[in-house]
Amino acid sequence: MLPVLVNQTPAWQALQQHWETLRTQRMRDLFDADPKRAATFSLTVAGLHLDYSKNLITAETLRLLRELAETVELSGWIERMFAGAPINNTEDRAVLHCALRNRSNRPILVDGVDVMPDVNAVLTRMEAFVGRVRSGSWLGHTGERISDVVNIGIGGSNLGPKMVCAALAPYQSESLRVHFVSNVDGTHLVETLRGLNPATTLFIVASKTFTTQETMTNAGSARNWLLTALGDSSAVARHFVAVSTNAEKVAAFGIDTANMFGFWDWVGGRYSLWSAIGLPIALAVGLDRFAELLEGAHAMDEHFRTADLSANMPALLGLIGVWYANFGGARTHAVLPYDQSLRYLPAYLQQGDMESNGKGVTRDGIAVTYTTGPVVWGEPGTDGQHAFYQLIHQGTQLIPADFIGAVHSHNELGDHHPKFMANFFAQTEALMRGRRYDEALSELLASGMDEARAQLIAQHRTFPGNRPTNSILMERLTPHTLGALIALYEHRIFTQGVIWGVNSFDQWGVELGKQLANVILGELQTGAVTAEHDPSTRALLERFIRQRRA
Ligand code: F6P
Repeated sequence: MLPVLVNQTPAWQALQQHWETLRTQRMRDLFDADPKRAATFSLTVAGLHLDYSKNLITAETLRLLRELAETVELSGWIERMFAGAPINNTEDRAVLHCALRNRSNRPILVDGVDVMPDVNAVLTRMEAFVGRVRSGSWLGHTGERISDVVNIGIGGSNLGPKMVCAALAPYQSESLRVHFVSNVDGTHLVETLRGLNPATTLFIVASKTFTTQETMTNAGSARNWLLTALGDSSAVARHFVAVSTNAEKVAAFGIDTANMFGFWDWVGGRYSLWSAIGLPIALAVGLDRFAELLEGAHAMDEHFRTADLSANMPALLGLIGVWYANFGGARTHAVLPYDQSLRYLPAYLQQGDMESNGKGVTRDGIAVTYTTGPVVWGEPGTDGQHAFYQLIHQGTQLIPADFIGAVHSHNELGDHHPKFMANFFAQTEALMRGRRYDEALSELLASGMDEARAQLIAQHRTFPGNRPTNSILMERLTPHTLGALIALYEHRIFTQGVIWGVNSFDQWGVELGKQLANVILGELQTGAVTAEHDPSTRALLERFIRQRRA
C-alpha cells in the first residue's frame, strides 16, 4: 500500500539524496562534459520548442523524477482525467476542459453520457452569434451595428479571454473592439465605458455561477448605464448576452436565455476559456481562429495523454518544477514572456497555478508536510530585466524561470525583434553560466583598474550562475501555438497537483473572505459594526464609516 504522503516514498527520498549530490555541480560544467546536452534535453511539440537543458538536472535526475511520477501513478491520473472520472473529489465533478477542445470528437463520457454533442452544439451557436455580430447583422436597440463588446466577469471568466485577446491582437477585427471589466471598484467600469456609445455596445456577462458579487454588481451598473441612455428596458435583449452554467439566475437578471451560452460544471473557471467563456475571443478574432486555438490545445492534449513520461513536455516541466520546489527550496516560479502581446500571461497563470495548487491538504484531507504550489509571477521582457532580474541573477533565492518567445514578430519593426530576442538568449545564458570571480577580476584588471579596487569590485561583479531556466520558442505566436502553450501550462499544473496529491480543481480558500465580505458589507451599509471582529478590523471599519459620514 502507498504511504499517505508523497514525501514518505522511497522515490522522494532518493531525490532528496540526489539533490545533495547535484547542488554543488555547475551547469556550465555539465554542458562542457556533454556536447549533446542541449539536444538531449530539448523537444518540439505542437509548434513549441522546449529547451530544458539549462536546468540543474542530469539523466539520473529525470529518471528519479519519473520514478516519483510512477509512484503517484501520474499516467493513471491523466487517463482518468481524459476519461471523465470525477477526479475533482471535493465537488464530485469530472475535469473535462480537454473535452472542449477535443477536435477528434472521440466520445467522452460523464455518467455514461457523451458530452461531445453538447460541446459542439454550443460551438455552433457561438459561430452563428459571432457571425451576426461581426458581419453587422446583429443590431443594437436603435438599429446600429455593434462597435464595442464589454466582457464583464472576474477570475476565470476574465483572465483567460483577456489574455488571449491581447495575445491575438494581430488577428483582431478593427471594426469590433473588445474590453474587459472585472474589478468591483467602480473606476474599472466607469473608465471602460467612458467614450463608448450605449447604442453600439454589447455586454457579455460571464459568470459560471452567475452569483459572483463583483460581476453581478458591474452587470447591474452596466444595465443602468444602458437604460439611462436608451430609456427602454427592452434594449437589454439586444445589448446583453450571458455565458453561464446557471440559466435560472441569468433569466432572473433579465437576460433572455435565448441569448445565453452555456457550459457545464465539469469546466473549472480557470480552465474555461475554451468554452463559451471564450466568446469575446471568438468575437475578436472570428470563430475560425478560435477553432485554431482549440486545435493547438488539442494537439498538446494528445501529446500529454499519449507520450511517454521521458518525452512528455507538460510532465517534464511539472517534474522539473517539483525538483526545485521540493528539493531545491524554490518558493516562486517566474514566467517571462518575450512577447508584449503575452503581457497578461503571468496574471492568467497566477490564477491557473495558484488557485489550483495553493493547497495545504491532500485529496484525502491530510495536511501536507512539503511545499505545494509556488508563487507564480512575471512581467514581459525586457521590462522585467530593468526591474527585478537583478534579484534573479544575484539575489539569495533560487528562482526557476520560463522564457517564452517567438522567432518572428507580428510587428517586425526595423531591428526591434532581433534586439528583443538577443536579450532573451543573453539572459538565459547569463543566468546559467554566471561569471566567476577570477573572470570578473581579469576583466577589470584588463580595463586598467588598480588591483585593490578591482578585487573589491570583482566581488560585486561575480554572478553565481546555475540559475535554472526553460526556453520555450515558437515560430510565431498564432492561435494554434497559443492554444498549445496554454494547454502546456494547464497540464504542467495538473502534473504537479498529482505529485503533491492535492485536488487542483477546487478553490475553497477564496470562500472565507467572500463570506466575511458579505457580513461587512451589511455593516458598512447600516453604519453599525455589530458582528464579532478582531480589534484591528473593528477599528478600521469604524474609521471607514466615520470618514464616509464626515
Ligand atoms: O476566485 C474564485 C472563483 O470562484 C474562480 O475560481 C472563478 O474563476 C471566479 O471566482 C469567478 O467565478 P464565476 O465565473 O462563477 O463568476
